[in-house]
Amino acid sequence: MTSTQTVDALAVTRALTNAVIAASHAPSIHNTQPWRWRPHGDRLELSIDESRLLAVTDPDHRLAILSCGAALHHALISLAADGWHATVTRLSETNRPGHLATVRADARIPVELAAFRHLQTIALRHTDRRAVSDTAVDADALRTITAAVEARQTLLHVLRPGQVLDLASAANHAQRTESDDQAWQTELRHWTGGPRPLGTGIPDTVIPRTAAPTTVPGRDFGHRGDMTVADTHDRTAVFGILYGPGDGDIDWLHAGEALSAAWLKATELGIAVLPLSAAIEVTATRETVRRLLSGLGHPYLVLRFGVQDPDTAGPHTPRLPMEQIVEQP
Ligand SMILES: Cc1cc2nc3c(=O)[nH]c(=O)nc-3n(C[C@H](O)[C@H](O)[C@H](O)COP(=O)(O)O)c2cc1C
Repeated sequence: MTSTQTVDALAVTRALTNAVIAASHAPSIHNTQPWRWRPHGDRLELSIDESRLLAVTDPDHRLAILSCGAALHHALISLAADGWHATVTRLSETNRPGHLATVRADARIPVELAAFRHLQTIALRHTDRRAVSDTAVDADALRTITAAVEARQTLLHVLRPGQVLDLASAANHAQRTESDDQAWQTELRHWTGGPRPLGTGIPDTVIPRTAAPTTVPGRDFGHRGDMTVADTHDRTAVFGILYGPGDGDIDWLHAGEALSAAWLKATELGIAVLPLSAAIEVTATRETVRRLLSGLGHPYLVLRFGVQDPDTAGPHTPRLPMEQIVEQP
């Protein structure tokens, strides 16, 4: 006969495996998936994977840690949807290099409908690089998305129309700086384009064939992709800055959790999200973006919100096989 303890041990192992699978769908800078999970009894340890960092684009690991924060939030959604309460310790004192968080599944809880719904949304969420439609973003939806961010120790500043022009000029400047830098271009070429058979990076299928005539430029991938984008303007797009009072690892981890929470909520509300990080990657333009916050904090990521037709969404990006993101204890 199987004891209650054995049943629980099996159930927790299954829930932790499901959590890692859900987390693998998280968004990440250039789809680097810079996370590594280590299951251990009723715990999962999350670390940054040194082999998938962007030395030129992201030397401080701001965007990599932010990506890991998104994966952490996805994992927590999965545990909640499996009926587990989880205790998280972030950046605690372990001597494991790159350690970011430990998640402990410590008690059974009733499954809330919202957690179940978010788990379904994880499979639908994706980066939408198409031009936004003419339909305006609903103000109530924006307030709900902002609340999802603020519940995770991060803030969202929605730009006023006049500030969008300042953002556009910063994004253009960042784009030029990156285009003129050979090392930057080499790194970009390594992670983007082609079919991406190894499961990382951004395939041509989700890179626009032409640059849509937008006020704030999307990322210039340095080559044309295969995705057809409408030749419309981004007049109805709303731009926001994820930000907070600190500018260190813990702040970026929280910002990633906030990004995931906001993006899942936005997807459920029919709002498409496009992260724009070029202006954050370049030191000078990050400072320009910081000034848009009137000295209230440090910027982590720029987000574009817009309404899209969900039925014409493009394909999903590939993901690494589990054995490359899970470490055996
Ligand atoms: C921190 C961060 C920064 C990103 N910056 C950009 C960007 O500047 N331009 C862009 O087109 N996509 C950007 N993305 C989206 C990623 O390319 C995308 O998440 C990844 O390719 C996986 O695709 P998916 O989101 O469709 O699953 C960013 C994502 C994250 C998490």
